[in-house]
Amino acid sequence: MAATSASNAQRDHATAAAEVAISSLDASTLAVARRVKGFMPDDEGLALHRAGLLGAEVGPLLEIGTYCGKSAVYLGAAARAGGSVLFTVDHHRGSEENQAGWEHHDTELVDDRTGRMDTLPVFRRSMEDAGLEDVVVAILASSTTVGRYWRTPLGFLFIDGGHAEDVALADYESWAGHVAPGGILAIHDVFEDPADGGQAPFRVWQRAVADGFVPKGTTGSLRVLRHA
Ligand SMILES: C[S@@+](CC[C@H](N)C(=O)[O-])C[C@H]1O[C@@H](n2cnc3c(N)ncnc32)[C@H](O)[C@@H]1O
Repeated sequence: MAATSASNAQRDHATAAAEVAISSLDASTLAVARRVKGFMPDDEGLALHRAGLLGAEVGPLLEIGTYCGKSAVYLGAAARAGGSVLFTVDHHRGSEENQAGWEHHDTELVDDRTGRMDTLPVFRRSMEDAGLEDVVVAILASSTTVGRYWRTPLGFLFIDGGHAEDVALADYESWAGHVAPGGILAIHDVFEDPADGGQAPFRVWQRAVADGFVPKGTTGSLRVLRHA
């Protein structure tokens, strides 16, 4: 009986969490999130949104790695629901793996004038379509440069920038110290098995745990931790 009550309570909690996500992410915003180009399946996007809601209770949200704005829609909606804002940092020139000849290159995102990647115009349209221009603040820069000058404690940090080991660790080192006590750290593309994907985000997750961040959940390759 006690076990049944406990499992009912767990299910109620899960249902409540799912309902919170749905009531704070209306159908048209969700439709934009789903159609924007990016690398985030819907279940991870919804989990990211829920983590963003928790973080927004502590302070502003910041993501490293905007790309075309897919995760920024999930997180921007969380920022709006929590009365906060999302800062999203990207130089919009693509990561190593987005460049010509690499696995995640998209010729539609190349500036014809220069032949360089440029995701900024697409991101801008995504925010306009999602009606999130007033809560999502784009920062057009290298993440480590901004991190060096950043002073505001964060309620939520999402690391989804470059996936080369030195780049991902530099992002962690530049930004993890800005997460406020009780704040949330989310890391994307965490694969424990090298057969499933690159190891850099997993190394960042291991480093975060060693530094005292407490693992709170996993959805696909998305890992969520809380600052003690
Ligand atoms: C995996 S994509 C981000 C995907 C995005 N979060 C989404 O949901 O679609 C990585 C992005 O990080 C950016 N990036 C890579 N290294 C960076 C750096 N050092 N500073 C700023 N942005 C960087 C790239 O330009 C690219 O747009």
